[in-house]
Amino acid sequence: MIRIDSVTKRYPDGTVAVDRLSLEIPDRSITVLVGPSGCGKTTTLRMINRMVEPSEGTILLDGKDILQQPVNTLRRSMGYVIQNAGLFQHRTIVDNIATVPRMLGWGKDKARARARELMERVGLDAALARRYPYQLSGGQQQRVGVARALAADPPVLLMDEPFSAVDPVVRKGLQDELLRIQEELGKTIVFVTHDIDEAVKIGTMVAVMRTGGKLAQFAPPAELLSDPADAFVEDFLGADRGIRRLSFFPSAGLDLLTTPIVAIDSTAEQIAARDTDDVPYLLVTDLDGRPLGWCEPRDLTAGAVEAEQLLPYGRPFVAGTDSLRAALDCAVLSPTGWAVAVDAEGRAAGVVSQQTIGEAIRGAHAEGRKTDKTDKTARVAR
Ligand SMILES: Nc1ncnc2c1ncn2[C@@H]1O[C@H](COP(=O)(O)OP(=O)(O)OP(=O)(O)O)[C@@H](O)[C@H]1O
Ligand SMILES: [Mg+2]
Repeated sequence: MIRIDSVTKRYPDGTVAVDRLSLEIPDRSITVLVGPSGCGKTTTLRMINRMVEPSEGTILLDGKDILQQPVNTLRRSMGYVIQNAGLFQHRTIVDNIATVPRMLGWGKDKARARARELMERVGLDAALARRYPYQLSGGQQQRVGVARALAADPPVLLMDEPFSAVDPVVRKGLQDELLRIQEELGKTIVFVTHDIDEAVKIGTMVAVMRTGGKLAQFAPPAELLSDPADAFVEDFLGADRGIRRLSFFPSAGLDLLTTPIVAIDSTAEQIAARDTDDVPYLLVTDLDGRPLGWCEPRDLTAGAVEAEQLLPYGRPFVAGTDSLRAALDCAVLSPTGWAVAVDAEGRAAGVVSQQTIGEAIRGAHAEGRKTDKTDKTARVAR
């Protein structure tokens, strides 16, 4: 565990970048430092690997003061990833990734083999190995940066705004990849961002910092959203806090109705036999059970319905896997007000009304008040 104990950093010109910061960074999870520009995030991160020395206070790694350890040993145990990846422009991708193993005295072939293995791990095509950084997209370069930091298999990964220079779609991909890598490798990651949505998405614990290098709140994301410590944190979290909090609640408990689901080749008798009193619409599926769209029962019983005539069903949610937020979004976007749930293969699993989702939300909030503080690991696709 990394323990930051009442650390202050005063730069020579008198700037207090970090002010009596205390944090316990748990092992094998992602701790995010988030806050406005200039609040001391980078300074904090660099104090952990001793690129910056604290003016006061101590930082302990597994109980030992980091100042008591040889700086090279310390840095070897910590991969470091920065914005724009900071790659060596004159080295190929494979040699960029092999840098640290080479420094540690590995032979060229072994280091390159390790680099190629890591390329695969971070989702980079092996064909890119011989290219130079300028021949890669921003997102690919960031992946190289992550692979390079992982090369010597350090237990700790320090990441300073690693994904902030790429577009939102690529960024989401990189975030998902990082969560996957973290799950596979169990690294202790300290991740700096100024984007609260990124912090909430990837953080197990989130430290919100304010200008002047002070800690405003240190909590799991669901708790930040439900109980911001003060007006600064609340303001920093931004609008839609209630809706965003729903992404921490699973859709698993939703009561799905299956009676309104009909295959497009159903006969009038089969349709008439259904008890659809509760649902004014039928969800028509193709022969594999994949949703096609909504129609009113009388349109279907009157004879053949063409797929083009159906009302669009919007974006379905994956039953159980997706969160209540995803389910609510589906219902809000659906022209019928009913959300469509699908299974992992995309086949219709049931439909659920806004009203039922609303009841589940009220139940989840009541439950959340009881469990928020204890259940720090709950993670739903969000
Ligand atoms: N070498 C330095 N000398 C003097 N002041 C510094 C130095 N480095 C950083 N600062 C100041 O310390 C404060 C914190 O800087 P830091 O880079 O840690 O912030 P940050 O939270 O990472 O900001 P950003 O989101 O913009 O990257 C700022 O006021 C900055 O101007
Ligand atoms: Mg910074």
